[in-house]
Amino acid sequence: MTRATKATLTFDNGAPPIEFPVLSGTMGPDVIDIRSLGQHGYLTYDPGFMATASCASRISYIDGDAGLLCYRGYPIEQLASQSTFMEVAYLLLYGELPNSGQKSVFEEEMRRNAMLHDQIHTVFRGFRRDAHPMAVMVGVTGALSAFYHDSTNVFDAANREQSALQLIAKIPTVAAMSYKYNMGEPFAYPQYRHHYTENFLHMMFSTPCETYQVNPILARALDRILILHADHEQNASTSTVRLAGSSGANPFACVAAGMASLWGPLHGGANEAVLKMLAEIGDVSRIPEFIKRAKDKSNPFRLMGFGHRVYKNMDPRAAVMRKTCHEVLDELDLNGDPLFQIALELERIALQDEYFISKKLYPNVDFYSGIVFRALGIPESMFTAIFALARTAGWVAQWNEMLSDSAHRIGRPRQQYIGAMPRDYVPINQR
Ligand code: SDX
Repeated sequence: MTRATKATLTFDNGAPPIEFPVLSGTMGPDVIDIRSLGQHGYLTYDPGFMATASCASRISYIDGDAGLLCYRGYPIEQLASQSTFMEVAYLLLYGELPNSGQKSVFEEEMRRNAMLHDQIHTVFRGFRRDAHPMAVMVGVTGALSAFYHDSTNVFDAANREQSALQLIAKIPTVAAMSYKYNMGEPFAYPQYRHHYTENFLHMMFSTPCETYQVNPILARALDRILILHADHEQNASTSTVRLAGSSGANPFACVAAGMASLWGPLHGGANEAVLKMLAEIGDVSRIPEFIKRAKDKSNPFRLMGFGHRVYKNMDPRAAVMRKTCHEVLDELDLNGDPLFQIALELERIALQDEYFISKKLYPNVDFYSGIVFRALGIPESMFTAIFALARTAGWVAQWNEMLSDSAHRIGRPRQQYIGAMPRDYVPINQR
C-alpha cells in the first residue's frame, strides 16, 4: 500500500472535515501533523503520550516490535561490542563517530573538565549523610549553574556545546562525590592519567589509605553499560529535559530535572527496585508466588525490570546486559550468585507465561543491570546515579538538538478541563 500523504478528520455532526498532512521520517511510523487542529476548536487527548510524537529527532531510534535500538543509525549491539562510551557520547552530541584526532580532543576535554569548583564541596555538606545519592545528585547538579554560568546562553551554539561538554565531564565526579559523601569517606579527585570510566571507578573506590587499581575487565564492562544507557528517544526523563530546556532554562537545571524524573521506580529507579525484588524472592522456589502477584490486577506489585512502553519484544539492551552479567560474574568467580540464578529463572518462567506473552512483557534494560552493578561493588543506592551519569550524554544531545532548531518553541501542553463551571465566591460564614 502506498504511504498516505494526507489524513482527513470527519465528524458525525455534519461539521466540515479537517485535513492534515501525513509526514514520513527516515524509519518508524508516519506522523499526522495536527498542529493546525487548535484553529478548528479541537485538541487531541493522549495522557502518557501513548501515540504522540513531541519532536523530530535524529539522535536515537527504537523499533519496539523488532527489538531494535540505534544511536545516530548505529545498532546498540555493535556500539556495545566495538565502541566506547566516549565515542558514543561524541556520536550522540555531534552526529558522527569521531576520528582518532577528534576522539583525543574530546577525551582531553573530558579530563580537563572533570574536576568541580572547590566550593562545591560545601554544597554536599548541606545534605544529611544518609541522603540518597540521587537526592544529592539532583541538588548538586542544579547548583552547578551557580558556578558555571559563563556558558549558559542557551541560544548560542558555542555556549551550548561548552555546557554540554561540562556536564558530560562533571557528572561522574558529582555521582562519585555523592557516593563518597554518603559513605563518609573523603572525596577522591579525578586523575588525568585515567580515561573517563576508569576515572569514575577511581573516584568511587579509591581512598587515601592505599593505591586503587582499576580492574580493566570491570572498567570495560561498566563502559559498555554506560553505552547501553546513554540515550533512548523521548523517554520520561529526556522529555523532562526538553520541556525544561524549551523555556530557555540553563542546561544544569534541565539535567537536574531529568535526573529527578529518572529517579522514579517506573523509570531509571527500576534497576534498584529489581535487586530489592530479587532479594525479596530470595529463592527460585518462590518465583511462582511473585509471578502470581504480578498478574493479579488487584495487586499493585509489578515484576520490576519487565515491560516497556515501546519495546514489545526483548529490549536489545537487556540481552547485552545479560551477556555482560555472565562476563563480570565469571571474572569475579561469582557465577553462583544467587540473585543472578533467580533472575535467569524468573526470566525463563515469565517468558513462558501467557500473561507476559500476551502483554508482550519482556526484560528491559533494568532487569540485569542491578546484578552487574552489585557484582562491580556498586551499592544499590548508586544504580540510578550511574544510569543518570550515562544518560546525561543523551540528555545534553537532545537538549542541544532542540535548541539548535530555530523553529523550536516553548513546550506548553494543553488539557481537557473536567472541573467546576464558573461560580461565585462564597464567604466563609456561608460555607
Ligand atoms: C526504563 O521509556 C523508556 O525508554 C525508559 C527506559 C529508558 O532507557 O529511558 O527504557 C528505561 O524506564 C525501563 C522501564 C523500567 N521500569 C520497570 O521495569 C518497571 C516495571 N515496568 C512497568 O511498570 C511498565 O512496564 C512500564 C512503566 C515500563 C511501562 O508502562 P506502560 O507502557 O504504561 O504499560 P502499562 O503500565 O500500561 O502496562 C500494560 C499492561 C498493563 O496490564 P493491563 O492494564 O493491560 O491489564 O501490562 C501490565 C500492566 O498491568 N504490565 C505489567 C508490567 N508492566 C506492564 N504487569 C506486571 N509486571 C510488569 N512489569
